Amino acid sequence: MAYRLIALETVGSTNDEARRLAEEGAADGTLVCAREQTGGKGRLGRTWTSPPGNLYASLILRRQIPLRTTPELSFVAAVAVAETLAAIVPPSRPIELKWPNDVLLGGRKITGILVETTSAPGAASSDAVAFVVLGIGINRISHPDDARYGATDLAAEGVTVSLEALRAALSTRLADWIARWLADGFGPVRAAWLARAGGRGAVLDVRVGNTLISGRFCDLDGDGAMILEIPGGERRRITAGDVAAPAALQA
Ligand code: BTN
Repeated sequence: MAYRLIALETVGSTNDEARRLAEEGAADGTLVCAREQTGGKGRLGRTWTSPPGNLYASLILRRQIPLRTTPELSFVAAVAVAETLAAIVPPSRPIELKWPNDVLLGGRKITGILVETTSAPGAASSDAVAFVVLGIGINRISHPDDARYGATDLAAEGVTVSLEALRAALSTRLADWIARWLADGFGPVRAAWLARAGGRGAVLDVRVGNTLISGRFCDLDGDGAMILEIPGGERRRITAGDVAAPAALQA
């Protein structure tokens, strides 16, 4: 994928700016980056604290991507980020993936991924989306408090990397994984994600809307849903939700 970089100083949200540009016709591969965000957006309506110096990037994708497969892109991004970080952090600091798309370093959150999709009104799940905005934030030199896992940043982990080098490394891995996903589907992404998944086999609490579901994290389904075995043995597919921190981390 040939990137077209749009480097901004300050923006509300790179995802919102990318969406605005896409609506004006910006091409596939447009990468909107900013030094800081004043209205950074997280999943589930949360905010993403975005002071200067961390990485904030949003990629516009205009491919034949069926609406129903767009959630898989957050796993594509998580795998690309995990590989990018694994290449620069000491091997003693484990990188772990948490469903659906958290990247943890030493058990603490270091990355946020927000995939936003735009499709025609009334589009069927098999219809191709108009475009996707894939937003990624990586804590490079600072981190906010994160109530669920705690957070960290690369500098705090003793890793010095320039924003440009980090962005270049991430762009390469992201392009590779997107190409692979488009060519071969979710299988290779699922395998790479599971290879770094934390908490497999552990009992997790997952918040789905206002309901808390406890169960053993068994597997990742072929479309990215988490398979939880709930007490009594029933296997339940979770397609959207938020994994609470394991008890050990809440202490
Ligand atoms: C999360 O809640 O974990 C997702 C956070 C996603 C943050 C990134 S930073 C770049 C892009 N622009 C935004 O406003 N959000 C995403």
